[in-house]
This record gives sequence, structure tokens and C-alpha cells, in this order.
Amino acid sequence: MPITLPPISRRRFLSSSAAAAASILAGCSHMVRDPRPSDPNRFVLLSDTHIHYDRRWFHDGKVNTWENFEQVSRHILAQATLPSKAFVCGDCVYLQGRYDDYMTLTQAVGPLRQEGIAVHMALGNHDHRENFGSVMPIDGSRQASVSDRQVMLVGTPFANWYLLDSLVVTNQTPGRLGEKQVGWLAGSLDAHADKAAIVMLHHNPDELTRIPSVTEGKSGVDGAMAKVSGLIDTRALMEVILPRKNVKMCIYGHTHVWQHADREGLHLVNLPPTAWVFNAERPNGYVAATLRADGASFELHCLKANHPQNGQTLDLKWR
Ligand SMILES: [Fe+2]
Repeated sequence: MPITLPPISRRRFLSSSAAAAASILAGCSHMVRDPRPSDPNRFVLLSDTHIHYDRRWFHDGKVNTWENFEQVSRHILAQATLPSKAFVCGDCVYLQGRYDDYMTLTQAVGPLRQEGIAVHMALGNHDHRENFGSVMPIDGSRQASVSDRQVMLVGTPFANWYLLDSLVVTNQTPGRLGEKQVGWLAGSLDAHADKAAIVMLHHNPDELTRIPSVTEGKSGVDGAMAKVSGLIDTRALMEVILPRKNVKMCIYGHTHVWQHADREGLHLVNLPPTAWVFNAERPNGYVAATLRADGASFELHCLKANHPQNGQTLDLKWR
């Protein structure tokens, strides 16, 4: 389920005498300084953060996902103007979606929330719906009409962000939205046809149209999942978002590859992972996005400052 962690209120935090005392004792000067400016049209996009319950743990003996997240968080907070929101595009935690992984994830996002940044999360194939829901607060933005797949509509000045739920089975690679969710998306897009829309989901839709009706027929889901590594019902999604011109962009993760493509003027943006890369030459880190009335500017921030793609920008015009 997509989830929102609201900013931690400075006033609420300091109204607690115990918290205030702890803050002073700990020398937490960031808790009491004046609020920093944030831009309501600026966002940060993370994906595949894969936080492990043990902060000291290294994936494949090489990548400490806690440290990667911390580095990204520090970089975001070092900017003169803060983003208003952070979106995490699924695979928030390590492979099995353990309860303890989500406990550590809440600690990882703490510094962002303390600076007033709301954190919105979608689930990927390495998340676990029940464990996630046990740790994270109930989200008031949840669209209750899709009862089995919780989805989120986040309104911002220049665009509505649709966070979809493509998790099917934890630790199995493919994803699927399902008819009900796709139908809800179509109806909501039509109801807000006068506003730009950005669709975000974990699974990549790029295998899509070459695959005929894999969600139907004798093979069923299991058969389809054996063939597809991305979104099984990509065709159904595309049939909704391609003809609706208010949809300007589709953002996804899952592949751990930073990539941009264009289909009939619809921007397809594959976010890089914040965790590890499958090819050492690929970038990892996060993307800063600034929206405007007629488009968006994206800037890639790599964990390796000397990566040749660090600072790469995309200037995206809306169709
Ligand atoms: Fe994934």
C-alpha cells in the first residue's frame, strides 16, 4: 500500500517536555532552529531503497543500504531550499519485507520528516503489505474504493500524483495492478481531467505491449509470472494512461536502471536505485524533481560524486 509519513511537527515535538529535554541533552540543534524554506513544487524521488533491519548489514558484502539512504538524506537536507515531499517508489526494504526492516525504515526517514518533508511510499515486490501496515500509520489519503490494493492520490500545485500498488507476492519479481485498481485510476483521471497527472508505481511497464494478455487464460497468474519480470498488466495500464492526455508522466523503479523514454508524448521515467546497482557502471542515488505548469525538470544525484551521470538533467515538456 502506498503510505504517507507526515512531517514531524516541530511544535508538537517541543511541546513534549521529555522530548525537549532529550533534545537539549542530546544537543539536537536541528530540532529547535527556525523552519527552513521548502518549495511546494520541488520533490525528491527515491526507489529500491531496500533497507535492512540491521543498519550494519551489507548486501552482497558491498553495499550498506542504510548508509546509502543516510547519504541521500544528508544531500537532500543540505540544499538551500528543501523539497516539500519525498516519494519512495517501492522495494522500500530488503527481500522479505520483514517487520523489523520497516522499523529501521522509519528511522531512516526520520531526518527528512523532522525537516518538514512528507514521505510517501509505494510497495514493490520486496515489500510485505501486512508487515508494512503493522509499522506504518494508517494513511488518510488512501483511496478506499480500491479495498484490496490501497492506492494514493497526492495533490500538489501543478499535478496530481497517483501512487499505485503493484505488489502481488512478496519476493516474487513481477507485479500486477488488477482490474479494480486500473478501473479506479481511469475514473479518477477523468474526474480530474483538468489537472496534470503523474502516475507512479514500482514495476516497470516496458515489456508490455509485446506480451499478449498474460493475465488471462489457462496459465493464470503463475504462468504469467514465470514470463514477466515487470508489470504483468502493462497493456491495461497503457490503455488507460496513453489516451488520457492529462497524464504527463509514468514513473517506476524495479529495474535499478536510470532511464527516460517517451511514448506518444508520455514521459516514462525509470528511477535509479538508492540501494545497489546490477551493473557497476550504472548510477545509484536519487532524483530531484521540480514541477511547473508546462513540464518538469529532473536532476540525477549520484551517490558517487564522480559518476559521469551525476548532475544529469532532464527537461521534460508536457504533451
Ligand atoms: Fe522490485
